[in-house]
Amino acid sequence: MEKILETLERLKQHHLINHIKNLTVSEIAGLKEQFAKLDFSVLNNNGHEEKRGKFQPLFAETLDEISKNRDKFIKIGLDAIKQRKVGAVLLAGGQGSRLGFDKPKGTFNIGINRELYIFECLINNLLEVTEMAGVYVPLFVMTSVDNNKKTREFFEEHDYFGYSRENIWFFVQEQLPTLDTHGKLMLSARDKILTAPNGNGGWYISMDKTGMLDIVRSKGIEWLNVFAVDNVLQRIADPCFIGAVIDSGKVSGAKVVAKAAPDEKVGVLCLEDGRPSIVEYYEMTEEMLTSREPDGTLSYNYGVILNYLFRVDKLDGTLSVKLPLHRAFKKIKYMNEKGNIIDPEEPNAYKFETLALDMVKLQENCLAYEVDRRREFAPVKNQTGIDSVESARELLIYNGIEI
Ligand code: UTP
Repeated sequence: MEKILETLERLKQHHLINHIKNLTVSEIAGLKEQFAKLDFSVLNNNGHEEKRGKFQPLFAETLDEISKNRDKFIKIGLDAIKQRKVGAVLLAGGQGSRLGFDKPKGTFNIGINRELYIFECLINNLLEVTEMAGVYVPLFVMTSVDNNKKTREFFEEHDYFGYSRENIWFFVQEQLPTLDTHGKLMLSARDKILTAPNGNGGWYISMDKTGMLDIVRSKGIEWLNVFAVDNVLQRIADPCFIGAVIDSGKVSGAKVVAKAAPDEKVGVLCLEDGRPSIVEYYEMTEEMLTSREPDGTLSYNYGVILNYLFRVDKLDGTLSVKLPLHRAFKKIKYMNEKGNIIDPEEPNAYKFETLALDMVKLQENCLAYEVDRRREFAPVKNQTGIDSVESARELLIYNGIEI
């Protein structure tokens, strides 16, 4: 107890001191265990993003160019998959607060006339590739402390949607403390500091800490395709994409879509001080937003869709790099001073996240690989409106998928 009080004093978190003095011996033991593991450096994060370098456009391998080389790319990609050099990493540790669904997002039923779960859409897409290749692609699923059990049970109940159980591994990402609007630590229970998953940029480090990289190494996997859970049209271990990246000689690749409008709110793949990087829409100047190439296309035209291919040996070289922490204001359930659990209607807390897109900057180069957004990009972030259940359903139907 003394140690905890000292830490709180040092961190200027006096509001918790009285609370802690009223805890039982076993509650204090629980808190002590959590304190030993928590990274309190977020308390020094004031939300200021690091200074950016000099941006330049990065041109993509366009749909036209890809279609001219499709057969060649598919052959190269399929060969790599058949030789079991490609693994896939499903990022499913998010809290999905915008969707307002209290279970893991992948367990959301996007169907109307039949049950069709988000996880099922992804596995169906992956199965198309494994059937073509004649081998399963090792699939690593990143979950969080909160959703791990439910995610595993869901896969189990649905018999892994026809995927091979021996080729799926689940691992848990790390957590970071969340802060209220006054920069104070919060509680999730009497004996627990409120924490949230540490963002999707922690996936490789978490794979290392949880022993997943031992599996990657023992299987001789050379490439990892990492992707978000919430795009129901997500093409995973896409042989053409893999083949194009290998053929280009580049060490990473990113699937991108042409922007729908110059001011569309997407992160754009570009060069920053000569390295591949993603510039957020709010970081772009008016000139960057509207500048066009001689052929009329926007200079900063290609938005990322959270589907990247990385070379494992190059990722290993980044394991010790500390990625920047981004602060996001979110709706997070917490325990108030009266001991009641509050499920807020509006954002109430800052969570701290590393982002997978920051890993792109650690690579020497990156192939921007254009995909048709109507075919491959149907994110489910909200219930209605942009990037929603509604818009994803429309796109599933457009792609001939019965829902
Ligand atoms: P989002 O940035 O959309 O975050 O995640 P989110 O937590 O799922 O949803 P909101 O913002 O609260 O509504 C993009 C992808 O990154 C994964 C998500 O599961 C999704 O696939 N992710 C996000 C993680 O795996 N871990 C995290 O800590 C955050």
